[in-house]
Amino acid sequence: MVERSEMRAADRSHLPYSAAFSLATATVMRRVVAALLILGLTHAVDRQKFKTCDQSGFCKRHRAVKEPTGYEVISDSIKVNETGLAAKIKNKDLTLKLSIVTLKDSTVRVLIEEDEKALRNRYQPLDALVKREPEQQKIKKTKEEASATKILTTDGNRVVLIHKPFRVDFYVKDKIVSSINSAGLLHFEAFKKKVLLSDREKGFWEETFKEIKDTKPHGSSSIGVDIAFVGAKYLFGIPEHAEGYSLRDTKSYEPYRLYNLDVFEYETNSPMALYGSIPYLVGQTTADKGKLSKEVLDADTKPRDVPQQNARFISEAGVIDIFIMLGPQPNDIFRQLSELTGNAPLPPEFALGYHQSRWNYKDQKDVKEVHEGFIKNEIPLDVIWLDIDHTDGKAYFTWDKAAFPNPSGMIEELAEKNRKLVTIVDPHIKKEAKYHIYKEAKAKKLLATRSTSTSLTPKLVNIGRSSLLFDKYTNTSKDVFIWNDMNEPSVFDGPEVTIHKDAKHVDGWEHREVHNVYGFHQHEATFAGLKKRSNDEVRPFVLSRSFFAGSQRTAAVWTGDNKADWGHLRHSIPMLLSLGTAGMPFVGADVGGFFGDPDEELLVRWYQAGAFQPFFRGHSHQDSKRREPWLFSQNTTDAIREAIKKRYAFLPYWYTLFYEHTKTGKPVMRPFWLEFIEDESSWDEDRQWMVGPALLVKPVQEPGATQISTYLPGKRQVWFEWDTHKARPSPGAVQNPAGLHSIGLYQRGGTMIPVFADVKMTTKENHEQPIILYIALNNKGDFANGTIYLDDGESYAYEKGDFAYWGITFKKEHDYLHTITNKNLDKRGTFDSDVYIEKIVIRGAKFYPRTAHIYLDDFTPDPLDFEYDRDNFLMEIEAPNGYITREFRIDLHS
Ligand code: GLC
Repeated sequence: MVERSEMRAADRSHLPYSAAFSLATATVMRRVVAALLILGLTHAVDRQKFKTCDQSGFCKRHRAVKEPTGYEVISDSIKVNETGLAAKIKNKDLTLKLSIVTLKDSTVRVLIEEDEKALRNRYQPLDALVKREPEQQKIKKTKEEASATKILTTDGNRVVLIHKPFRVDFYVKDKIVSSINSAGLLHFEAFKKKVLLSDREKGFWEETFKEIKDTKPHGSSSIGVDIAFVGAKYLFGIPEHAEGYSLRDTKSYEPYRLYNLDVFEYETNSPMALYGSIPYLVGQTTADKGKLSKEVLDADTKPRDVPQQNARFISEAGVIDIFIMLGPQPNDIFRQLSELTGNAPLPPEFALGYHQSRWNYKDQKDVKEVHEGFIKNEIPLDVIWLDIDHTDGKAYFTWDKAAFPNPSGMIEELAEKNRKLVTIVDPHIKKEAKYHIYKEAKAKKLLATRSTSTSLTPKLVNIGRSSLLFDKYTNTSKDVFIWNDMNEPSVFDGPEVTIHKDAKHVDGWEHREVHNVYGFHQHEATFAGLKKRSNDEVRPFVLSRSFFAGSQRTAAVWTGDNKADWGHLRHSIPMLLSLGTAGMPFVGADVGGFFGDPDEELLVRWYQAGAFQPFFRGHSHQDSKRREPWLFSQNTTDAIREAIKKRYAFLPYWYTLFYEHTKTGKPVMRPFWLEFIEDESSWDEDRQWMVGPALLVKPVQEPGATQISTYLPGKRQVWFEWDTHKARPSPGAVQNPAGLHSIGLYQRGGTMIPVFADVKMTTKENHEQPIILYIALNNKGDFANGTIYLDDGESYAYEKGDFAYWGITFKKEHDYLHTITNKNLDKRGTFDSDVYIEKIVIRGAKFYPRTAHIYLDDFTPDPLDFEYDRDNFLMEIEAPNGYITREFRIDLHS
């Protein structure tokens, strides 16, 4: 195995990134040789319910493989083709098929599978991909040598297949960044005819956990391989775990597990599996590897003398299907991942507002009181949520008629105030003869038994989809959206709280093979149903607890049943950063914590953090005390109101970021490395984050804090404190008093952030409201820019051009003239809105303005009023008379 070696002085002339994405469902685990071991804290989680690696036959067998398994390429088997090559590899036990295919945009796919002799097909979760066959790219050149076959890709990357021992190396501009099977741990269990009884003890043919037997009539079909990230100091990704952002060394610890599970009262600092799985890892190259590259290229020497992270993916079933994305820059990585698994579509605007949930709002009166409570207390709110008990005895898509005698009226009342309703739909179907969904599923023979689960049949998915139509889901309207919960799936008396691994699905697939895509298919069907319900006119909103790679295309997710404690507040940050890193941007954690009762301080701090995280919902367990914001002391209610209002003020910026995500794949809540590649010390930061490129957030995460200490990343950048406009240099730390109403909020120099001038009670009422442009000048004081996106906020009209995407630029023209101009960045967008600019705030204005004029045409400048604060270098232009979507130029003379 490759050791972790000291980092050398970094030369940042070249900083390639690479990422590996392994397309295997079932249990996928990884192991990384990296940082220090931090032992987990024990909470109330019932660990006994869940397997450790040692209790899982395949995992234990793979982990026991510590020496190279001796695979080599069969030399006359290599067939180079237009886009890559095919070959066979073998060791003393097995021959496997290998294919290496170069894809568009610096991406390479490596597939290792059983050859024609396989006893049974292997499952591939191709639905995770946007296109089941990602676009291939012709290779530029190949070089076939006795010891290696080298491919030069059209993008200028190099893939080197080393024949003996088998290994695949990846180079970006002559620098090795990644290597498959560099430790030689490739281990593949082929389906067998049941003969070797000695394998029984190893759990090869069957194993028992908690008295539940798991049978494998064709034997185990597990796979595993190691992947090195050469030059990488950290690895990020593989959500979902309640862990720090930078993944830790698991050599002498449990591996990170990816098996979608309902883990009651999950603990923090743990590699235990949680609700969703995305087998995607990112590593960055920190050091200059110039010296090494030639040596590695020419000989088969193992990379050394540079930092390196080793990962090992182990899966219970499936094929080895790895996508290596070669970057080299952070922006490239996100685009490359989104080429494969897609982007989150633009959400309806309301979904970015505040959501109020609880298990349960018990009846119509309760809903009405909560709804009116927000209005009375002047706290913005967009959505009220109904949990399981609103249904007729947990038959989803129905109503408890006693508690909700008039759902349509209730929904109408909410809609009158521009509010929406979200109702829960779990995947289990109530067994009751009169229940329409049960009746239909039964008639079509789609119900699961202990050994056959039909839940993933297209027919059942179809029922799920059509259940949302208004004739089936009665007493609802276009203002009702859906929450898919328990879709790991959670089965309380099943093994590890889920379906038996040997239960059969459609086409004979075993549950172990498809487990991790179960929730994916449910939320996908829900999304399709909601879309169809509106004749494809209204953008759906679906929240799912379970997810897989590609889930972002049809769901937002939340981090499940967290706890009302400070540790869970802190862990929400790395958990959400990991999700964003792996391609899921629309994510949040239950504000306040699901289990337990937060004290007022924790609750306020959680609202302050949640207001700057993508999905913002307060939710709590049925046994917890009620926590609508007005049930506390005045100061607490005020602080919560303030946090929610901040969320609404920044909505134009959030909406623009979600739009930009659809173009770039970049997350909206960002880790520092995405924005500050030059500041290596900030890469693993997980107490702070960026909202988009311009806003830094550091909420208070400790009880009784008197100071907020914020690290300002970057090199020679300037930052501005949001409220005081005070300029701060970076890199560096800043201390500010942590009063109950305070949160660390900084605008990065060189940016523009659009903010609503006035906050209304819902996103809808805010929709056409005037905007303040906050322009923060760069270090030199000569430039800043930013963007704003507008559309109707709910329909698909934007796809046909009904949108506006504009840029705003501040520029120094010469010593006596600075200008602010706006420009249509996408001429296909023709949305003409009346949204006007109420005010422009310029931070870091060191140019002593004497006059300001706006040109709405080329001839007649109108003079503008402004104020200038010399001490704070702050210029504020009131009512400049400009519109977001109509061209203007403002001249500032000094
Ligand atoms: C699960 C969900 C939680 C929900 C509860 C009742 O625990 O994670 O959010 O409130 O079920 O439906």
